[in-house]
Amino acid sequence: MGTYNIALVKGDGIGPEIVDSAVEILNAIGKKFGHTFNFTPYLAGGAAIDATGKPLPQETVDGCLASDSVLLGAVGGPKWDTLPADIRPEKALLGLRKAMGLYTNLRPSRLYPALKAECPLRPDLVENGYDLLIVRELTGGIYFGDRGRREGQYGPEAWDTEAYSVMEIERIARAAFDAARKRRKSVISIDKANVLETSRLWREVVHRIAEEEYPDVECSDMLVDNAAMQLVKNPGQFDVILTSNMFGDILSDEASQISGSIGLLSSASLGATPRGMYEPAHGSAPDIAGQNLANPIATVLSAAMMLRYSFDLGAEANCIEAAVDDVLNAGIRTADIVGASGATPIGCTEMTAELLKRI
Ligand code: IPM
Ligand code: MG
Repeated sequence: MGTYNIALVKGDGIGPEIVDSAVEILNAIGKKFGHTFNFTPYLAGGAAIDATGKPLPQETVDGCLASDSVLLGAVGGPKWDTLPADIRPEKALLGLRKAMGLYTNLRPSRLYPALKAECPLRPDLVENGYDLLIVRELTGGIYFGDRGRREGQYGPEAWDTEAYSVMEIERIARAAFDAARKRRKSVISIDKANVLETSRLWREVVHRIAEEEYPDVECSDMLVDNAAMQLVKNPGQFDVILTSNMFGDILSDEASQISGSIGLLSSASLGATPRGMYEPAHGSAPDIAGQNLANPIATVLSAAMMLRYSFDLGAEANCIEAAVDDVLNAGIRTADIVGASGATPIGCTEMTAELLKRI
């Protein structure tokens, strides 16, 4: 019977609708299992730019750091796309990850049997389904390296740098191996060691951690270009994918699409404490915002991850995941997952109601 203080960063576009849906689900879980969830809203992204001129007000950082965990919708939209780099909505996301020390990003992707027909891969390639977890390093690499503009050999040029310390690689490797121990005990580490020095260090460190600390977990390497291909050729070969910030960004979008819809994919960003940030893997979808068309499932599943990883409430998380399975098995669909099923699509509020019935 716990009390948990959750910071809500609804953000932009469909953010508010899908976060409201997850809040309803959490309240129902609270009622069923005897927990109290307190929610405090904070501004970030375009909404914060409009209200305060800044994408990530200090009040939001302080509020998130004082919370037990953060639930985030999505940030960004065309309205803010032309702003200078330092006040773009994306700064809010990157700033929160850094300020909260969230170096581990978990992005699961699996094929729901009920959604097999929506998978864009040839049926024989996913006959046995797939179930993988991307463990993406989140506060290092080229995202946070030195960058700038300068005069180069051919005139004005721009540059970004990728740097990884042994410490950063060790801690993300441990996160991946720990996750693998709770799954099928296999880690494929993805890099570009045939070209990049950071990748060569990455490989060295990952193998040392594997041998010294996780002899029970299988560990192998794959080059990122090959990995991009293998994901659409044989996704079933992957259990845990361990990779850097930028490779993880790219591969996780690819992995999301092979599940049938990006509207189903949750994510967790974790650090050294139980406090995390949980958000759907998709964006703010400004084209459908405010029209009751969004699929809340990715955000609802992100809330389930919060219960499991931040609050250690496994049974409660299972209850949400079972409700999602049940809704999908019953053929209930939002527009993004209707596909060829012939179902009549329902809206975000109706989907929330269907999930609530099953909690
Ligand atoms: C993601 C997003 C972000 C990232 C952007 C919005 C900064 O693409 O969470 O994958 O690149 O990390
Ligand atoms: Mg991305």
